[in-house]
Amino acid sequence: MTELHDFIDGLPKAELHVHIEGTLEPELMFALAKRNGIALPYASVEELRAAYSFNNLQEFLDLYYQGAQVLITQQDFYDLTLAYLKRAHTDQVLHTEIFFDPQTHTERGIAFQTVFEGITSALSNAERDMGITSELILCFLRHLSEEEAIETYEAALPYRDRIAGFGLDSSEKGHPPAKFERVFARVRAAGFRIVAHAGEEGPPEYVKDALDLLKVDRIDHGNRALEDNALVERLAREAMPLTVCPLSNLSLAVVKDLADHPLRRMLDAGLVATLNSDDPAYFGGYVNQNFRQTQSALNLTKDELALLARNSFTASFASEERKTELLGILDSYLAQA
Ligand code: ADE
Ligand code: ZN
Repeated sequence: MTELHDFIDGLPKAELHVHIEGTLEPELMFALAKRNGIALPYASVEELRAAYSFNNLQEFLDLYYQGAQVLITQQDFYDLTLAYLKRAHTDQVLHTEIFFDPQTHTERGIAFQTVFEGITSALSNAERDMGITSELILCFLRHLSEEEAIETYEAALPYRDRIAGFGLDSSEKGHPPAKFERVFARVRAAGFRIVAHAGEEGPPEYVKDALDLLKVDRIDHGNRALEDNALVERLAREAMPLTVCPLSNLSLAVVKDLADHPLRRMLDAGLVATLNSDDPAYFGGYVNQNFRQTQSALNLTKDELALLARNSFTASFASEERKTELLGILDSYLAQA
């Protein structure tokens, strides 16, 4: 291991782009399938892992939604979330902002409350036992209708005190931000934070529309924004955070090689980039693995790694008090590293 990889392992950081359903490791998927009497179309963990070879976002999503079907009880959602939090804790993630996709579950007849209480009880126990703080972001599935997003928003309102914001994920192409303008107007009026996947596979216009129509606080991915120079200048001027996920981009053929990853150009353009794992159980690595492989491929310096960690805290939705505390922990680490 190189000295910079040791530096990464100890670097205090936040994770701002992780789908809890995407942290479902094959071993847990098999265990939950057994516990719930569900037959999986794979004979073994190895066979399932071998199926994780994707040519695009949709091929991944098909397996991801299939995998999520083993999640039935509150305990299942608790076990899933706690396993991720323990893993994140070993990567020096001090704060995490987790996406969840309730429609993936309510469509199968699982109650919103079951999903929500399972996830949030793991979040509170992890804060108590490991000191890891968290926020929850509910994502609407963009391949479904805006009406269904509105129904989901209304189902979430009784839990609003424990939801920081709302996002937009799933199949991007053909489902532009404009499709969800009205639901996000309601989300915004109620004072929630807003994020959206944009420019992962979709064109730069989707990034612009996420800014102008949805009025996002962060862009998830944003890779294809780099095709439009005026947009890059705007993102820099507005200090708009991007939650970048290099191993996801590699797995979904958004980039051919990590050496071509746009993170280098994002940093050079002064964009507020952060590094994240997206769906680590499917893409071969948690957040530190994303840092390590990207560092090696792009020759990131110690200062650039520290900037990525700093951006993760400043771009987070943590309280100002918690942000100050997290930045203080980072500064102490940098002073001795
Ligand atoms: N849902 C889970 N992972 C996703 C991704 N990378 N893009 C869009 N939707 C997702
Ligand atoms: Zn994502």
